[in-house]
Amino acid sequence: MSTDTIAIACDHGAFDLKQHLKGYLEEKGLTVLDLGVTNTDSVDYPEYGYAMAHALKDGKAQRGILLCGSGIGISIAANRYTEVRAALVHDVTGARLCREHNDANVICLGGRMIGPDLAEECINIFLATDFEGGRHQRRVDKLTNPT
Ligand code: RB5
Repeated sequence: MSTDTIAIACDHGAFDLKQHLKGYLEEKGLTVLDLGVTNTDSVDYPEYGYAMAHALKDGKAQRGILLCGSGIGISIAANRYTEVRAALVHDVTGARLCREHNDANVICLGGRMIGPDLAEECINIFLATDFEGGRHQRRVDKLTNPT
């Protein structure tokens, strides 16, 4: 498992899951950069998706976990930056494939869609799985340089 810094951010729809996952990762000895939120007050998820993008762009973290109610809005927000490859994941297969094929650097989960045990499992796989490269590298390069 990567020992790099993992950034985590959420909106109010996934605050409880964010707190759970942060504690889980820290207990495993991983370094977690918490970009908010700090409570369940209603916020706008794009701000937290953008905060994640900046943390990755600035080298403050190498991987990220983004959470909102569905995982959808915050993944759309983060993916507006070409430095981000954020994958919305609902199961362990998606968690593996987003690394093997897409070299995803951010995993997105829905706090209202997934329970804490499955979220932990998805994150463990996301952190432990290597990018396959090869033909997938060409495709990822095209994501980095959109026409
Ligand atoms: C907030 O109610 C909710 O819309 C947000 O967390 C997310 O699901 C948006 O995609």
